[in-house]
Amino acid sequence: MSKLIIANWKSNHTLKSAHEWLNQVEKIFEQESSELKVILAPPFPLISGIAERIRAGTIELAVQDISPYGAGSYTGAVSTANLIGLPVEYVLIGHSERRRFFGEIDEMEADKVRVCLKADITPVLCLDKPYIKSQAEALKQAEVELPENKLIIVYEPLQAIGSGKNEDPAKVKSVVQEIKNLYGGVQILYGGSVNADNAADYLEFTDGVLVGTASLGADSFISLIKASG
Ligand code: PGA
Repeated sequence: MSKLIIANWKSNHTLKSAHEWLNQVEKIFEQESSELKVILAPPFPLISGIAERIRAGTIELAVQDISPYGAGSYTGAVSTANLIGLPVEYVLIGHSERRRFFGEIDEMEADKVRVCLKADITPVLCLDKPYIKSQAEALKQAEVELPENKLIIVYEPLQAIGSGKNEDPAKVKSVVQEIKNLYGGVQILYGGSVNADNAADYLEFTDGVLVGTASLGADSFISLIKASG
């Protein structure tokens, strides 16, 4: 199975800079055959503006959040129904910035996993250590059935996110095992200050990496891809 590289742009980039980034990043896939799958998670307003070229290209699309509800009267929320017709195949759920700045909790994340699975979109559940067990319990409580290979979990230690202090790979390895024991047949990624210098260390024993800061500039992202391939 190809290793996944998820580029999480958070609240950065414009439509213009997104096209410029894609112009540069897509070129490296024309030049080299890669075993990697790149998944780009741009802010919502950029999705439809870049959807056409994503449809034709090698990069796949994710959104950074989703409403736990369906279509209806939920001002400001984007539902899976709004994504119909767009080439969005993944949704980030439960990122620590959602929990910290928007008050999201395990029960809400469980509902988001449920709506994604129902819409046949792959949930990418981000978990710091304290949430590994509690989130599994919330999913169980909410009776969310987790089909084999349809859930991606990213281990994201809070202190490593955006700090330049990536977690020791040996520690990550033991947490990956803990996640496997609890969640079974899922793909497990690492996220937190991943860059061109350290990505390969994590790819040795994970199914991929989630990259924030180093995904923003095309140059740093291309270096990361080259170091990971
Ligand atoms: P970072 O972000 O690569 O800037 O640490 C990671 C993340 O979004 O979790």
